[in-house]
Amino acid sequence: MPVITNIEDLRRLARRKVPKALFDYVDTGSYDELSYRANSAELKAIRFRQRILIDTGERKLSTTMLGEKVAMPVAIAPTGLAGLLYGDGEMVAARAAEDAGIRYCLSTMSICSIEDIRSATKGPFWFQLYVFRDRAFSEQILARAHAAGCTALFVTVDLPMRGQRHADLKNGLEVPPRLTPRNVFDIATKPAWAMSVLRGKRKTFGNIATFLHQKAQTGALAAGRWAQENYDPTLSWNDIAWMRKVWPGKLVLKGVLDAEDAKKAADHGVDAIVVSNHGGRQLDGAPATIVALPRIADAAGDRIEILFDGGVRSGQDVLKALALGARGCFIGRAHLYGLAAMGGAGVTKALSLIESELRLSMALTGVRDVAEVSRDILFDDYSARLRNV
Ligand code: GLV
Repeated sequence: MPVITNIEDLRRLARRKVPKALFDYVDTGSYDELSYRANSAELKAIRFRQRILIDTGERKLSTTMLGEKVAMPVAIAPTGLAGLLYGDGEMVAARAAEDAGIRYCLSTMSICSIEDIRSATKGPFWFQLYVFRDRAFSEQILARAHAAGCTALFVTVDLPMRGQRHADLKNGLEVPPRLTPRNVFDIATKPAWAMSVLRGKRKTFGNIATFLHQKAQTGALAAGRWAQENYDPTLSWNDIAWMRKVWPGKLVLKGVLDAEDAKKAADHGVDAIVVSNHGGRQLDGAPATIVALPRIADAAGDRIEILFDGGVRSGQDVLKALALGARGCFIGRAHLYGLAAMGGAGVTKALSLIESELRLSMALTGVRDVAEVSRDILFDDYSARLRNV
């Protein structure tokens, strides 16, 4: 067993464990991957102030996200296909999140369904919604999420159409995965994956399959095709107003990158936003999320909770995002690398790496409480620098 000391180690291990098409699905961005790469690069470019002789013997990482108590300011991001990286992957990851005292957000495009996550965990979890053309789906899935005890709904607003990721087309990524002449050698060299996923029970989009089943449109392939044809470019602020009326829990817009949009979200009574460019998988050429964050925090931080994702691969990244105005961070790829590498133990490893990095970096920057982190811990006035990028 290799010694794993950072998320990159999990990434390397993941690459060896799962078929290329699935690893590439996780590990790429859209078109030229400018925004995908910028997310990490801009986070890495930020420098801390190294502070000394501040008693940090006790450090408090626990805080709240969306008013819910969490052990650290980190949550698991909704990601498609997690259940194809490891058998029952979303259930496994949700359990690891619960054990770590943080929230799990389930994707609409998950393999395990909302009801599966409910059965696998005890506490609350969050749900990410794609509003499809067929609004009956939204109505039904909102009812299902509510019945399952989801406390917050994350409506994805940066995907009126799906961004193009070249690797998915070149690899012929399919859901459910199939053994084909093209991938037979690849799969033959990934026996643990084949046992866990190919021979497992859940292999298609669980939430959508349940819906189609009720409409008597069955068949595993139908779920993927239906989703592909149903992304809705007509989604508008009117739909958010409707959602605010019908969803009784916390309402969050995921995929805000512009200060004007953040203000509009607050005007619409939305509880929080996730500053996100969909992990660099949508608009290629959009700014890195950490670059957008301070402007959004300045424009709307007093009216709306600001959450963050994009390029977070370490506790240092979390601390930087908190310094620039985020209440908490989501980790997408960082947990998927762990899941693909080692299942639940890998997700737990990813979370504990980030937790210990955060704990250590707090000591070295003289921070006792994550709730007190401000721009003051950064070496430069990064908000000014980032404004001029
Ligand atoms: C889906 O949300 C994806 O980014 O692939």
